[in-house]
Amino acid sequence: MKLGVVILAAGKGTRMKSALPKVLHPLAKKPLLGHVIDTARQLDPEKIVVVYGHGGDLVKETFSEDNNLEWAEQAEQLGTGHAVQQAVPFLDGLDQILVLYGDVPLTSADTLKNLLDVTADGFGLLTVDLENPMGYGRIVRDVNHKVERIVEQKDATDDELEIKEINTGIMLLPGAKLSTWLSNLSNSNAQNEYYLTDVLAMAVSEGIEIQVSQPDNVMEAEGVNNRIQLSTLEREYQRIRAEELMVGGVSLADPARVDVRGNLQHGQDVSFDVNVIIEGDVTIGDNVSIGANTVIRDSVIESNVTILENCVIEQAHVGVDSSVGPFSRLRPGAELTGNAHIGNFVEIKKSVVGLNSKVNHLTYIGDTEIGVGVNIGAGTITCNYDGAYKHKTIIKDKAFIGSNSALVAPVTIGENATVGAGSVIGKDAPDDKLSLTRVKQVSLNYNRPTKNKN
Ligand code: UD1
Ligand code: CA
Repeated sequence: MKLGVVILAAGKGTRMKSALPKVLHPLAKKPLLGHVIDTARQLDPEKIVVVYGHGGDLVKETFSEDNNLEWAEQAEQLGTGHAVQQAVPFLDGLDQILVLYGDVPLTSADTLKNLLDVTADGFGLLTVDLENPMGYGRIVRDVNHKVERIVEQKDATDDELEIKEINTGIMLLPGAKLSTWLSNLSNSNAQNEYYLTDVLAMAVSEGIEIQVSQPDNVMEAEGVNNRIQLSTLEREYQRIRAEELMVGGVSLADPARVDVRGNLQHGQDVSFDVNVIIEGDVTIGDNVSIGANTVIRDSVIESNVTILENCVIEQAHVGVDSSVGPFSRLRPGAELTGNAHIGNFVEIKKSVVGLNSKVNHLTYIGDTEIGVGVNIGAGTITCNYDGAYKHKTIIKDKAFIGSNSALVAPVTIGENATVGAGSVIGKDAPDDKLSLTRVKQVSLNYNRPTKNKN
C-alpha cells in the first residue's frame, strides 16, 4: 500500500511569543518539524507533504536541502480539515494518508507503525486517556464501544467533557475517500473552523469501522504550544536518550544531567560524569570517561581516553590513550594522534599533536604540526596570525619547548631541538640545538626602598 504523510505546520504558535515560527523551535537542537519529518521517513512513505502558512518561507528555507518534501501553502488558518485539504493535490494515487502535527515531536515510529498495522486500508486513530483532557477533542463511543465521532472541547456537552479518551490528532485516512470527505466539511461549529475530526463521523456513517491504537507513552502525543511545554518535551526526550545510553552500556553519573543533541555512537565501558553535553555527530570508543561539565560536538574520541572536567571539544579527533583536561579547549581541526596529554587552559586549533606528545599547561597551539614525543612547556604560544594571514608552525619529533615561549609563524622547530624558556622564536630552530632569545641575567647590588618609621 502506498503511504502519504501530511504534516500540519501552518499554525502561528502565538503563545511561544517568538519571531521564530513555532515548528522551527529546537528540541535537542533540531527544529520540532525536523523531528516529525525524521519520524515520518522511518515509515518509508511515497510522499511527505508539509502544510505551511505562518512564517512559511523561513520554514521552507530551513528544510531546503531536503528534496523529498512537498510544500502546500495554507494562506489562512481555517482549521485542520482545511489544512489537510491544501495537501490533497499532492496525494493522488496514495492508499493511506497519515496526518501528523509539526509541533508534536516525540511520537515514535513504532507507535505509527502500530497504527498502520491495525488500520490497514481503513480509518485509524491514535488516542490517549488523560486524567485532565481539557482542551482536546473527546472520543465519543457508542454502546458497543465503537468510535462514533470526535467532539471538540468547545462544542462538547457537559457529559462529553467527562470523557477522558482524547484525540491526539494523529489519524490514518483512506486516500480514496479523503478528498470527498474534506469537500463535505462545514464550519458551522463553535470555532467556525473546518475540523478534520468531522471526517471521522462521515466514515462511520459509511459503515467504516474506526481502528484505534494508543502509544506506550502519553508524551508521544503531546504538542508544543508554549515554552513550558517545549521544555517538558525536551526533558522527556533527554530522559529517553539517557535510558538508551544506559541500556547500551554507558554509565551516567546522573541520567537527568546529560543532554544528547545529535547522534552518539559509543563503545563499551564509557562513563559520563554530570552535565555532559553531546552535540552533532559524536563517536566515542571503548573505556572512555568524560568528566563533569564537558561539551563534545561533532568529534571522535577513540578508545582508552580520559576527558577530565570542564572541557569543550569541537570538530576534533582525540586519539587512543590520550588524556584531555581539565579545562582544555579543542577547536575545529585539533587532531591528537594518540597518547597525548593535553592539560589545563590549553587551546588547540587546526593542529596535529603527534604520538606521545604533551601540551600540559596554559598554551595556544594553532595551525601547527607537532611531531612525536614533543614536550610543549607552560605558556607556549604559537603566533599564527600576523593580522592579515595565518601561518604554520612545525615542531618536529622530540623537540622541547621551554615555558613562556612565543613561536612566531611561519617557523620550524627542528627534531630534538630545545627552545629556551622565555624565547621569542622567529627564525627556524635547527635540529638538536638549544635555541633561545634571552637578555643575559645580571645581578647588581641594590637597596630596596623601606618606609620611614615616624
Ligand atoms: C486538534 C484537534 C483535536 C485534538 C488536538 C490535539 C481538530 C479540529 N481538533 O485541536 O481533536 O485533540 O488537535 O492536539 O482537528 N493547523 C494548521 N492549520 C489550521 C489549523 C491547525 O496547520 O488551520 C495545525 C497546527 O499548526 C497544529 C495542528 O494543526 O500543528 C493542530 O492545531 P491546533 O489548533 O493545535 O489543534 P486544535 O484545533 O486545538
Ligand atoms: Ca493544539
